[in-house]
Amino acid sequence: MAKSSLIPGFYRLSLEERLQHVKEFANLTDEEAGQLKKAGSLPLDMADRMIENVIGTIPMPFGIGVNFLINNRDFLIPMAIEEPSVVAAASYAAKMVRDGGGFFTSSTQPIMVGQIQVVGVKDPYAGKMRVIQSKDEILKKANDQDPVLLSAGGGAKDLDAKIINTTQGSMLIVELQVDCRDAMGANAVNTMAEAVAPMIERTTGGRVYLRIISNLATRRLARAWCIVPKKSVGGEEVVDGIVNAYAFAAADPYRAATHNKGILNGIVAVILATCNDHRAIEAGAHAYAVKNGHYASLSTWEKNENGDLVGSLELPMAVGLIGGAVRTHPIAKIAVKILGVKTANEFGEVLAAAGLAQNLGALRALSHEGIQRGHMNLHARNIAVTAGATGEVIDLVAAKMVEERKVRVDRAKELIEQYEATGKI
Ligand code: MEV
Repeated sequence: MAKSSLIPGFYRLSLEERLQHVKEFANLTDEEAGQLKKAGSLPLDMADRMIENVIGTIPMPFGIGVNFLINNRDFLIPMAIEEPSVVAAASYAAKMVRDGGGFFTSSTQPIMVGQIQVVGVKDPYAGKMRVIQSKDEILKKANDQDPVLLSAGGGAKDLDAKIINTTQGSMLIVELQVDCRDAMGANAVNTMAEAVAPMIERTTGGRVYLRIISNLATRRLARAWCIVPKKSVGGEEVVDGIVNAYAFAAADPYRAATHNKGILNGIVAVILATCNDHRAIEAGAHAYAVKNGHYASLSTWEKNENGDLVGSLELPMAVGLIGGAVRTHPIAKIAVKILGVKTANEFGEVLAAAGLAQNLGALRALSHEGIQRGHMNLHARNIAVTAGATGEVIDLVAAKMVEERKVRVDRAKELIEQYEATGKI
């Protein structure tokens, strides 16, 4: 029987009980469950091979977004993030969306673009024609670089060329379109771009400088949408508040940046848990947000004829399940197992749903009660710890500060002193 991700009161369970739920849901082994509890699960020698100048590792909280129903299938969403409220907001929003049938998703083929910059072409327009005429030869050269990708059904599928005007005069930019299948694709695309560069120099008579993937992955989009019943979201007034919040972000780049940051809170947390490249996703998302000529909201929120809330999100999604750290980092491997996704496209669609959920959670809180109440409890505990509270005193100090609406280190210190002197707060 399919297991449900709807777990009421998940946050109230002990860490051990939560882990047990996830272990059963995702069929984790004892060893995998044990690894999640170990703070230093990335072996130092592995870290030392991943980047340069390594002196240690930095652990981060690893939480689970619950209640997700995506294309009629239950998902638990692993999220690595330092910010309080994000996991709670995503889970709460997923629950509301679930009432309306869950998220529905789709995506394009996983096509990434590799750019080859050609300068000093005497006849750039004719050069472009010659490049396009040599397409088959160039694509063959590109595909010779990656027989594995080719055998998986991917590879360089097409190319295009354009002339741009720059401060250095006109340049010819050749763009390879590479189907990356389940890889993020940077390595494959960069290798291909470098391999075809001499051929392009010969064809154009120009000089090639840059040969690099583009993170504005407009040919690799993931989409998610949902209907949230007005009753579930808190009534028609709350629906109106969220639609107005969206309209604000659609019209004003200052608000849109924060609105999109909320979307990326959800997406990047999953990207980090799976050791994918979050900078690539962020760069692509923000650049895509300018697609209509000014920076705007990546998502849309509307009210349908029944007064229900309808949300949608579309953004570039260059993620992979093979290559890079996702297949080597022990925790990333467990995160992918918990997600249960089998292809990069499916993974990207789940990420789009996580981003839309996060956005809904933030907009509902912002347009309704404000986000500080939700944020405050965990924030107050952090402040209490910073001020020196330990054990049960953490919660006592935190609760008092929230009640007084004075969540500050100096106040926490006073309360700790008071507790030490009197035994109460
Ligand atoms: C905070 O990390 C994210 C929010 O600011 C997003 C938003 O304003 O929509 C709450």
